[in-house]
Amino acid sequence: MLKLTNVSKSYAGGKVRAVDDITLHVKRGEIFGFIGPNGAGKTTTIKMICGILQPDSGSIEINGFDVRRDPIQAKKSIGYVPDNHEVYERLTGLEYLNFIGDIYGVESSVRKERVSKYLEMFEIADAAGERIKSYSHGMKQKLMITAALLPQPPLWILDEPLTGLDPRSSMLLKEEMRKHCEAGFTVFFSTHILEVAERLCDRIGIIQNGKLIAVGSLDELRGQKSNETLEKIFFELTESEG
Ligand SMILES: Nc1ncnc2c1ncn2[C@@H]1O[C@H](COP(=O)(O)OP(=O)(O)OP(=O)(O)O)[C@@H](O)[C@H]1O
Ligand SMILES: [Mg+2]
Repeated sequence: MLKLTNVSKSYAGGKVRAVDDITLHVKRGEIFGFIGPNGAGKTTTIKMICGILQPDSGSIEINGFDVRRDPIQAKKSIGYVPDNHEVYERLTGLEYLNFIGDIYGVESSVRKERVSKYLEMFEIADAAGERIKSYSHGMKQKLMITAALLPQPPLWILDEPLTGLDPRSSMLLKEEMRKHCEAGFTVFFSTHILEVAERLCDRIGIIQNGKLIAVGSLDELRGQKSNETLEKIFFELTESEG
């Protein structure tokens, strides 16, 4: 479903190697958690997957489409929740959702049904007619989640989606992520909340200094040490590599 092959990206004229030769294959139906310290390269990787940044080298394939050669088909396969929500503040929530629905070609009766389902689920239906600039951080986050779910994309990409969500919304989002995978779709998300990654993910990738230092199910990451928490594994791996 999602294939990265030898993907690298530098900033500042090559001085900062943000992503360093990452090769990764996320399978259909999988929830994949991407964890790593601040500045490890998670957001840079996610932006390259979504076609916002171009890799310096390597290739990315989504749902069988190469992001560089077939950008529209690749992007149509993605619903993306970015780590910041400063977009289209002048639109109302509903205008924004209709805009997304138009871009993805979501048919109007399906669109109405999904929009009202998620707006009610996340308790932002009353604010749907207000401009996004008046929304709180959590409300913007919920709107972005709704927008990303609206087309029911095969690949759902979320960059730190739980940040700023209250406990109830956070629980609902985790349920939606699980349901999305049970329906045969795929979820790729970054987080700093290791307990969530531990409980929710089928597989986890750990990135540090742009390098993927470990990938696998929790059991695979544990290796011989069968009872270790992800937190302990994370510190052991990142400290030994650091
Ligand atoms: N526009 C930029 N110019 C220069 N360096 C950048 C730029 N954006 C990111 N970086 C650097 O690239 C590296 C990777 O950043 P990135 O945002 O991908 O990390 P991250 O894993 O998402 O971190 P966080 O957990 O803080 O969100 C960091 O060293 C960061 O300082
Ligand atoms: Mg980030």
